[in-house]
Amino acid sequence: MRITVKIQTLETARTDLLVVNLFTGETKPGGGTGAVDKKYQGLISKKIKALNFTGKTAGEFFTFDSPPTKPSKQVMVISLGERKKFNLEVIRKVAAITLNQAKTQRAKTIATILHGAGIGGLEPKMCAQAISEGLLLADYAFDKYQKNKQKDNKQRRVKEVVICQKDNTTIKEIKTGIALGKILTRAQTFARDLVNEPPIKVYPEVLAKIAKQITQDNSNIQATILKKPDIIKRKMNSFLAVDAGSDKDPYFIHLAYKPKGKPSKKVALVGKSITFDSGGLSLKPAEAMATMKMDMAGGAAILGIFSVLNDLKPNLEIHGIMSACENMPSGSAMKVDDVVEASNGTTIEIVNTDAEGRLALADALVYAEKLRPDYIIDLATLTGAAIVALGNDIAALMTDNDELKDKLTKASQITGEKIWPLPLEPDYQEHIKSEIADIKNVGKKGAAGTISAGLFLQNFVKKTPWAHLDIAGPAWNETKLNPYQPIGGSGFGVRLLLEYLLMN
Ligand code: BES
Ligand code: ZN
Ligand code: ZN
Repeated sequence: MRITVKIQTLETARTDLLVVNLFTGETKPGGGTGAVDKKYQGLISKKIKALNFTGKTAGEFFTFDSPPTKPSKQVMVISLGERKKFNLEVIRKVAAITLNQAKTQRAKTIATILHGAGIGGLEPKMCAQAISEGLLLADYAFDKYQKNKQKDNKQRRVKEVVICQKDNTTIKEIKTGIALGKILTRAQTFARDLVNEPPIKVYPEVLAKIAKQITQDNSNIQATILKKPDIIKRKMNSFLAVDAGSDKDPYFIHLAYKPKGKPSKKVALVGKSITFDSGGLSLKPAEAMATMKMDMAGGAAILGIFSVLNDLKPNLEIHGIMSACENMPSGSAMKVDDVVEASNGTTIEIVNTDAEGRLALADALVYAEKLRPDYIIDLATLTGAAIVALGNDIAALMTDNDELKDKLTKASQITGEKIWPLPLEPDYQEHIKSEIADIKNVGKKGAAGTISAGLFLQNFVKKTPWAHLDIAGPAWNETKLNPYQPIGGSGFGVRLLLEYLLMN
């Protein structure tokens, strides 16, 4: 799908589907929509009246056939919702709905108004970026294992979307916005693909190969890949314990991006990368095990991010760290009651082998801190309790650092990836005190499971400002979450962290 901008009025656009908009309650639309209405014999205002169309919620729309004398085949009038609730996320959804509707009608070309720039009052660049994101994220389908679906999707493919602008004053910004949207969604769909691939295809060695591949395409990114003997040498016994039951070798992956000039800061991103979480000997029940290929979504997000750093060129030194392995039961698996010593000397009692993410992350965080970064951010599908607390749409943010909290919150408001803070309550460190070791890998039953997991991780970050994002909910869509989030891997965190990085 090509997305472009043209100096052209909407009413003269030759296209299969002409898209205009209005806010809730508008009966005589102005701006670009008004201009089309006028040139299209008042058909838009007539339809609004005839259908009693109020456009109460954003994304509500109607379509009608254009008069034969007009250059478009069909017109789609879509609501931006209430003016006071309008934001970039509305634009993404509206753009996505437009694309989905075009596919339903088998329209091959779309010409659209730049949602939000005129009466919406947002910057043209941001609007164009959001349109580009909504379209490209909605266009995503993981259909490589379904020949028939693939064929149908191909037939419905929309070839071109043109954003119409009547003069050239903002063309440059719009082009930049479109391009940015393309890059960010490329990173996000890269992560989605990795999460959606079955565990027979994506296992630790594969993640390492993908990391290597990224360095081959980008001279400013280097990879350090530690294989099992190196991991043993570095005494990452907490990480190794998780891998112990698996026939697949663990891989410790470290990507490093360096900008041309002197970087303003050094950031380490750590991603949980369990390529399949069976629970280990504390085996998950069958229903809970389904979709546990997604337990590497944190790592997938980091690989997605690194795949576009060279296009965005942030002026930061950025490290991406993944301790990748499978969590499987077997005769060699770690046992409940085991005590393991992480690479910083902290001893851990294993109470439940299904709380493996924190074990693998412990050594990754220790490694990250040794790089002396200014900030560490980890992304992890860590606890089912995060879904109990915040549902499927919202990630839990845990940090003691106000700057990280503010910046991540700001980034989240821009990208529409929802996060909400939970406290790293020091008193709850009690919950993970062990009788036999320094700490144990589960907290108090039925009490703040997401926080105790966060507190567990805190034992491995001694002095670096750090934020932990538990993405167990939003990393995977059980159902179609919104018009641009299909079932399956969501790529959550990719745009969020890229936005954060670009803010620094
Ligand atoms: N990978 C899971 C968490 C998870 C659950 C992610 C559902 C996405 C959806 C994690 O390794 C796990 O199993 N956590 C346990 C911890 C418990 C044993 C303390 C959990 O949440 O039940
Ligand atoms: Zn688990
Ligand atoms: Zn897990």
